[in-house]
Amino acid sequence: MNKVAAAALAAALLLVTTVVNAAATVSSPDGQIVVTVDVDDHGQPDYSVAYRGRIIVMPSQLGLRFRDRYPLDSALKIASTQTRTSDETWEQPWGERRLVRDNFHELTVNLVSTQGPDRRFSLVFRAYDDGIGFRYVVPKQPYYGDVAIADELTMFTIDPDATAWWIPGRGWNRYEYLYHETKVSDIMLAHTPATLRLADGTHLSLHEAALVDYPGYVLDQRRPGELQTNLTPLSAGPRALKTTPFATPWRTIQIAPNAVGLLNSSLILNLNEPNKLGDVSWVEPGRYVGIWWAMHLGKKTWGSGPNHGATTAETERYMDFAAANGFSGVLVEGWNIGWDGDWYSNGAAFSFTKPYPDFDLKAVTAYGAKKGVRLIGHNETSGNITNYENQMDAAYALYESLGIRQVKTGYVANGGGMQRVDDKGITHFEWHDSQIGVNHYLKSVKEAAKHKISIITHEPIKDTGLRRTYPNWISREGARGQEFNAWGEPPNPPSHTATLPYTRLLAGPMDFTPGIFDLTFKGPDAEQRVSTTLMKQLALYVVIYAPVQMAADLPENYAKYPDAFRFITSVPTDWEQSIALAGEVGDYVVYARQRRGGQDWYIGALTNEDGRTLSVPLDFLTPGTRYTATIYHDGDNADWHDNPYDYAIDTKEVDSTTALELRLAPGGGAAVKLLPSK
Ligand code: NOJ
Ligand code: CA
Repeated sequence: MNKVAAAALAAALLLVTTVVNAAATVSSPDGQIVVTVDVDDHGQPDYSVAYRGRIIVMPSQLGLRFRDRYPLDSALKIASTQTRTSDETWEQPWGERRLVRDNFHELTVNLVSTQGPDRRFSLVFRAYDDGIGFRYVVPKQPYYGDVAIADELTMFTIDPDATAWWIPGRGWNRYEYLYHETKVSDIMLAHTPATLRLADGTHLSLHEAALVDYPGYVLDQRRPGELQTNLTPLSAGPRALKTTPFATPWRTIQIAPNAVGLLNSSLILNLNEPNKLGDVSWVEPGRYVGIWWAMHLGKKTWGSGPNHGATTAETERYMDFAAANGFSGVLVEGWNIGWDGDWYSNGAAFSFTKPYPDFDLKAVTAYGAKKGVRLIGHNETSGNITNYENQMDAAYALYESLGIRQVKTGYVANGGGMQRVDDKGITHFEWHDSQIGVNHYLKSVKEAAKHKISIITHEPIKDTGLRRTYPNWISREGARGQEFNAWGEPPNPPSHTATLPYTRLLAGPMDFTPGIFDLTFKGPDAEQRVSTTLMKQLALYVVIYAPVQMAADLPENYAKYPDAFRFITSVPTDWEQSIALAGEVGDYVVYARQRRGGQDWYIGALTNEDGRTLSVPLDFLTPGTRYTATIYHDGDNADWHDNPYDYAIDTKEVDSTTALELRLAPGGGAAVKLLPSK
C-alpha cells in the first residue's frame, strides 16, 4: 500500500497507531491539502504541504533547541504515528458566525533519538479544508524537566517570488505599521498574520493559534523563501522557560484558492480550546461612544487642567447622547490619577482606582444605570505591567461593584519597553510579545473574568483566537487604527482598510474605532485627515468584525448627517453568519453578515484609492423572500480627497436573484441594510 493510501485508511479508522520509519502523510477532509512529515539524512524532521496537487510549502525544517540540553532538531527517527479524525460543530457565545464547523484529520508523529541520550517528542499536525495547524508536544523525560528554549527552528519554505503583505516585527511601534506589499524574498522580520499570494493565485496566511505561556514569533527570512519562527526573547536571554510536559502554540497556514477564501476560514478559532469560563452571558456585544477622539484631536486632555476631557458633566453629556441613540456604553479615558506629565514614560504613576477630583465615578455610573448605559473603564498602563498587576484585583472589584462590564486596557510603550519590576525593585524591559507579555495579557483577561468584566486590549499581543477559550477577551487593537488619522505620519491611506481584512483581521476582532464623520477636521488639504469618503466610514462597521464597535466621532459631528448616522445606530455587532463575497488584498472587499438571531442582512463594501463598480449577487438571502434594501452609497461626484461628503441613500426591493450594483468612489464604500419586506 502506498503512503497516501495508508494515511487515508488510517484516517478512516479514526485512531490508528502505525509503526513506521518513513514519511507520514495526512490530508484534509476534502483531500485538497496533503501534509508530508519526514526526517532527512541528518535525522532532522521536516514537513511539506501540497495543495490541489502542487507543492506550496517546500520541505521545511522543524526542531527545538535548548540551553544546556541536547537539541530536538537532529539524530531523530519516526518511531510511530497515530491518526485521528474529528468533525464537530460548536457554537460561539458571540461572534462573526454562531455555528463553527471543526472538521480535521490529525496526524501525530512520534520521534525518538538515534544517537546521544534518549530523547523523544511528538509533532501533531491537523489538516482542515481551509489550512493546517501543527505543534510540538514535549513529554516529561529525563534531563528535560525545566527547560530554557534557545530557538524554535520551524520553517515555512515558500516561493521567494510570491507576493507578501506584512508589517515589520520587533519595531518600536509594535503592530502599528502600514502593510508592505513585496516579494516574499523582501520580507525582513515580519509579524503574523502575514499573507502570501502564490503565482497561481493560491493565498496563504501564516500565523499561530492558542498562544499561551510561550513567546509570540516573528517570521525571520534566513535564506530567500525560508521563513523561520523567530521567538521573541525574554530580557533574561532565552526565548522561553518551560516545564515538561508542554505543547507549543499551533503554527498555522491558512490556505485558499483566492483572497476571499482566507476571510471565510475559522481555522484559528478551531485550533483553540473550548470556552473555559462557563456561563458568559455577562459578556455583552454592543456599540459605544466615548470621551476619546477629542483627546486625539487635541481639543481635550487626558490629564487634569482646564481642558480635562473626563469630567462628570462631560461624561453625563455622552451618556445622554448614548441613551438617545441606542449605544450601550460610554468609554471614558483620562478619568484616573496618573496622566499628568509625560504619561508615556510614567506607568508607575497610574492609579486604577482613584479618579481625578472632577470625575465622580460613582455618580457617572449611577447616572448611566438610570439610562441603561454602562461606563466602559479605561486602564492605560504605559506598559508597566507590575504596577497594573498590583492593582488588578482591587480595580476590577471596584468596577464590578459599579456595574462596569468592559474595560479597555492600553500598553503604550516602545516595543521591547514593557516594564516588569522585580522584588528588588529592578526594572526589566520586555517585549509585548515575549512570554512575559503573553502571560500578562492573559492574566488580565482571567482576573477580569472573575469580576464579570470583558477586556478590550490596546497595544496588545496579537490575537491567536483565545476568545474561544476566554470569551471575555472581547476585542483588541494590534494594528494601525483610526487614531492614526488624527496624528499619524502619514495617516492611514485608503488602501489600509482594504488590506486589514486579509491580514490583521484574519486573527480576530479589532477595535479600529470607525465612524469619523468630520473627515477633514483640519481642512481638506491638511496632511492629518481621514482618507475616506463618509460612506466608507459606514462600510467599516460591516467589514471590520468587532463585537464592540465604537462610533468614534464627537456627538456634534453626527448631528450634521443624521440620515447616515442612522446606519451606525442600527448596525448589529453580533452575527448569525458572515460571508466574504469578493475582494483582493489591498484593493477592495465585500462582506455580507446576518444579524444574530435575526432575518436582516448587512453588506459592507469598500475600496482603496481606485473607484470601482461591483455587481453583488444577493444569493445568500432566503429564496422566495422579498427584502427592502436601504443603500448608503457614495454620490456620483464623491472622491475621498476632493469630495468625501457626497453621498445618497436609496431604497430598492430585492430578492435572492438580484445582483446589486454598487459604485464605490475612489477611497469610498457602501453600506446596505436588507430587511424582509412587510
Ligand atoms: C493608545 C490607544 O490605542 C488609544 O485608543 C488610547 O486613547 C491611547 N493609547 C491612550 O491610552
Ligand atoms: Ca494604539
